[in-house]
Amino acid sequence: MTEAKEAILLVGGKGTRLRPLTVHTPKPMVPAAGVPFLTHQLARARAAGVEHIVLATSYLAEVFEPHFGDGSSLGLHIEYVTEQEPLGTGGAIRNVAAKLSSGPDEPVLIFNGDILTGLDIRALVTSHNDSGADVSLHLTRVEDPRAFGLVPTDATGRVTAFLEKPQTPEEIVTDQINAGAYIFRRSVIDTIPEGRPVSVERETFPGLLASGAHLQGMVDSTYWLDLGTPQAFVRGSADLVMGRAPSPAVPGRCGDRLVLETATVAADAKLTGGTVVGAGAVIGAGARIDGSTVLAGAVVEAGAVITDSLIGAGARIGSRTVLNGAVIGDGAQVGADNELRDGVRIWCGAVLPDASIRFSSDQ
Ligand code: GDD
Ligand code: MG
Repeated sequence: MTEAKEAILLVGGKGTRLRPLTVHTPKPMVPAAGVPFLTHQLARARAAGVEHIVLATSYLAEVFEPHFGDGSSLGLHIEYVTEQEPLGTGGAIRNVAAKLSSGPDEPVLIFNGDILTGLDIRALVTSHNDSGADVSLHLTRVEDPRAFGLVPTDATGRVTAFLEKPQTPEEIVTDQINAGAYIFRRSVIDTIPEGRPVSVERETFPGLLASGAHLQGMVDSTYWLDLGTPQAFVRGSADLVMGRAPSPAVPGRCGDRLVLETATVAADAKLTGGTVVGAGAVIGAGARIDGSTVLAGAVVEAGAVITDSLIGAGARIGSRTVLNGAVIGDGAQVGADNELRDGVRIWCGAVLPDASIRFSSDQ
């Protein structure tokens, strides 16, 4: 049994910013269940026996290292590599190869940095060792696979094709998609061309298949969520708090709510559905907050009713305001008696006066 001791975490590229929640914080650093999202992935990898993690990033890299340092607080050895220009997923993997110390036949884990999952990492390693594959992929099933990489397999789980972001109905040949966790045999990483952008999904996987390489899929129906949108981020944070998404990094016991130490919550405020209240945040009397994330220093005034929403750091939500599926940017001020719904996004620092927007009809 060859254990996977090393992992590469991909946290660069275009999708890393969570706009407009915050312009300056890369998504992996926005708190989910009270800690930067990336902490959950790092802690889960550690729990599966990984000791060394290389963070491959392409911008705003300077926020990762001050927070995670050498990784020792998580029991890890973490190194950081920043691309001058984004190299794509495959290019990013190739670009950090020199940091790996695994032998040519040893398994190296690779994770997309924007996935929340209950994947049994050790089971993926075992499957990889048992099948003798060059690359193993975690696959999951989704209803609408168009935003993902489609991965059909044969009866033995061997991958037969890799179709990134299928466009036509004929291309949708399966509901199995690439879940963003791989194991590469170390020597396979070295075959990725160096020094230019490479997409692992559009170039490396199809190329390996064409050359007869063995790609093995492991379909696993555990918790899986792509945090590509702020709404998904809120969902993921709530699922972490409630224990649906397992992570050793949730600070505190899992339950209906997570209130960080320095937050102030009025005695009659009601927090449910995995709501997180960040450090220094203040929740006023009678406020009701369900399935939402309130980031550090935000203020929710008395009687506000908030559902499935993200309240940015230092933002203020006025009395009796109703938010449903809303994203409020850092430092934004939403006055009293507003009603914001269904995917609305308020820019960082924007100011919305009292009683200026509502959706309900005249009464
Ligand atoms: N270092 C670095 N450099 N990382 C990158 C770069 C880059 O140039 N480009 C993307 N990444 C990282 C992203 O930060 C993310 O963590 C991961 O690679 C995947 O990139 P996304 O841009 O989020 O891709 P996607 O969500 O459209 O699709 C990917 O994920 C799906 C699952 O969520 C693909 O891997 C699909 O096949 C997959 O189904
Ligand atoms: Mg993504």
